[in-house]
Amino acid sequence: MSTHFRRAGAALFAAALTAASLVACSSEQAPQGGGDGGGESAAASDTIVLGFSQVGAESGWRAANTKSIQDTLTQENGFDLKFSDAQQKQENQIQAIRSYIQQQVDVIAFSPVVETGWDAVLEEAKAAGIPVILTDRAVDSEDESLYESFIGSDFVLEGEMAGEWAKEQYDGEGYKVVELQGTTGAAPAIDRKAGFESAIEGSDLEIIDSQTGNFTRTEGKQVMEGFLQKHDDIDLVFAHNDDMGLGAIEAIEAAGKVPGKDIKIITIDAVKDGMQALADGKINYIVECNPLLGPDLADIAKKVVAGEEVQKRIVVKDEAFDQEAAKAALPDRQY
Ligand code: AHR
Repeated sequence: MSTHFRRAGAALFAAALTAASLVACSSEQAPQGGGDGGGESAAASDTIVLGFSQVGAESGWRAANTKSIQDTLTQENGFDLKFSDAQQKQENQIQAIRSYIQQQVDVIAFSPVVETGWDAVLEEAKAAGIPVILTDRAVDSEDESLYESFIGSDFVLEGEMAGEWAKEQYDGEGYKVVELQGTTGAAPAIDRKAGFESAIEGSDLEIIDSQTGNFTRTEGKQVMEGFLQKHDDIDLVFAHNDDMGLGAIEAIEAAGKVPGKDIKIITIDAVKDGMQALADGKINYIVECNPLLGPDLADIAKKVVAGEEVQKRIVVKDEAFDQEAAKAALPDRQY
C-alpha cells in the first residue's frame, strides 16, 4: 500500500497521524510491516515520503543548506527523504521531479536552479496530486497554484543591503565596481543584481564590468583574473556569494594587490569561510543569506500533507556583518 497522501483525504490523515504517532510511541519493539501480512505498520504509514531535488554542491552555502535538510528530514522526525543533487543542471532537476512523481512521493520540494521553465513539470505534479514546496529559490510562473509555498530569503533586499553599504563607503567620489554574478537565470543572481543596482542608482558608483562566476570559487577566481587584466582601476568587487568573493581574493593577491584594502569586497551568504575572510580584513562587508531551511521545510511539509493552510511565502530574516560583527559571530557560527 502506498503512503501517498492525497489532499482530499488530508483531514482523515491528520486524525490518523495523531493516532498513529501514539501507536508509534508505544510500538518501538514491534516488527515493521509484519502482523497479518496484509498491510504496513502504523509507523510506516505515518512517514512522509519527501522527494527533494537540490541545486548542486556549488558553494559552502549549498553544503550548509543540504546538511540542514538532511539533518531535519529524518526518520525520527517522521520523514523518508529521497534526495538528489542536480549538479546545477535544470534538466537533472526536471528528471528528478518526474521520478518523484512516478514514485508517488507525498511531497516534492526543490530549489530551482533557474527561475523559468518549470510550468510543464509542475503541472505534471499537480495532475498527480503531489504538493510542491519551493525552498531557497523561487520560480517565475504566472500560475501560483503550481506550488504550495516558497521558503527562503529576500534576494532583492540582500542586493539592496550590499548596495547601501557600498554607497555609504564611496559617496561623493567616482568609484569603479565589478560584479561577480551568480548562475545566469537563477533567482538570487537576478534579484541581487537588481537590488544592488537600485540601491546605487544616482550615486557615484559605476559597475564597469559584470559576469557570471556561477556561484563557485573556481569560476569566481577565473572571472576576477579576467577583470584584473582588463581594468586597472577597480575599487570594489560585488560578489553574489562568499565563494566567488573568496575566489576573487585569490586572484587579487596573485595580481599583487591587497584584497580588502586596494580593492574592497562585498559578498552575500556569511558562511564560515567568508566570515573568516571578513574577520581577517580580506572581505569588507557580508550580507547574510540563511541556509538553515530544513526546520521550516519540515513544518510546511507536515502541514501540507495534513491539508492545513500554509503561507504562500515564508521569508527568512538575514543580517549583515562588518569586520567587528564577524569576529563576534564566528565562535558560534553554525555554518
Ligand atoms: O540560492 C542561494 C545561493 O546559492 C547562495 O547565495 C549561493 O552561495 C548558492 O550557491
